[in-house]
Amino acid sequence: MSSPLYTEPIDDPLTGADTFDSGVPVLDDWLRSTAVTMERAGLGRTHVWRDRDGLVIAYFTLSPHQVAQDGVPSRDRYSKASRPVPGYLLGKLALDKSLHGRRLGTRLLTQALERVADAAQLAAGRLLVVDDIDDNAAGFYRAHGFRDIRRDDPTRPQRLYRRVSDILADVSPGPGDGATASG
Ligand SMILES: CC(C)(COP(=O)(O)OP(=O)(O)OC[C@H]1O[C@@H](n2cnc3c(N)ncnc32)[C@H](O)[C@@H]1OP(=O)(O)O)[C@@H](O)C(=O)NCCC(=O)NCCS
Repeated sequence: MSSPLYTEPIDDPLTGADTFDSGVPVLDDWLRSTAVTMERAGLGRTHVWRDRDGLVIAYFTLSPHQVAQDGVPSRDRYSKASRPVPGYLLGKLALDKSLHGRRLGTRLLTQALERVADAAQLAAGRLLVVDDIDDNAAGFYRAHGFRDIRRDDPTRPQRLYRRVSDILADVSPGPGDGATASG
């Protein structure tokens, strides 16, 4: 499979997602059962990669988000704000498991960060946060510059963040670069 990996908006109704298998069933089920509902409600915008047969091989979901600063290290807190600060939530990100380990997750994350940069240029934002699903996901995000937000309640999911100003310095807003799955 060597189709270009351009990010495209999710379609409604969603097609080509029946075979998507990231290895994390809750993420696969969420794509099939909930992503379009979130899109219609204005709660989360989902972007997909498709292969040349139109099958979904990856997706991510972004939303504007009020980020609570509790647990954010002091160097990245906005100290004048006692309330949450504006930002973004990368609520979901997953790649079909047939493609893992080839740096395509990195490519997918870069395209998500490019979308955040687009949004931030129009409407500002201080922090991007992700709620990791498991230790594997946390390792992936830490390897890509995300830092932990300290948790006082261990039952809550681990949350990680990056400063939007760092994202703007790292990525170019605009369409994906059309990298291919064949490398
Ligand atoms: C997370 C996911 C997108 C990573 O995709 P991938 O293509 O396998 O990852 P990459 O090949 O781009 O990894 C690039 C780098 O990330 C880092 N990385 C990846 N997984 C890691 C882990 N478990 N721990 C630490 N670092 C990790 C490594 O530095 C790796 O570089 P390397 O090639 O030198 O090893 C993919 O495994 C996936 O979809 N998993 C299931 C869904 C999921 O967990 N999503 C995230 C939470 S919503």
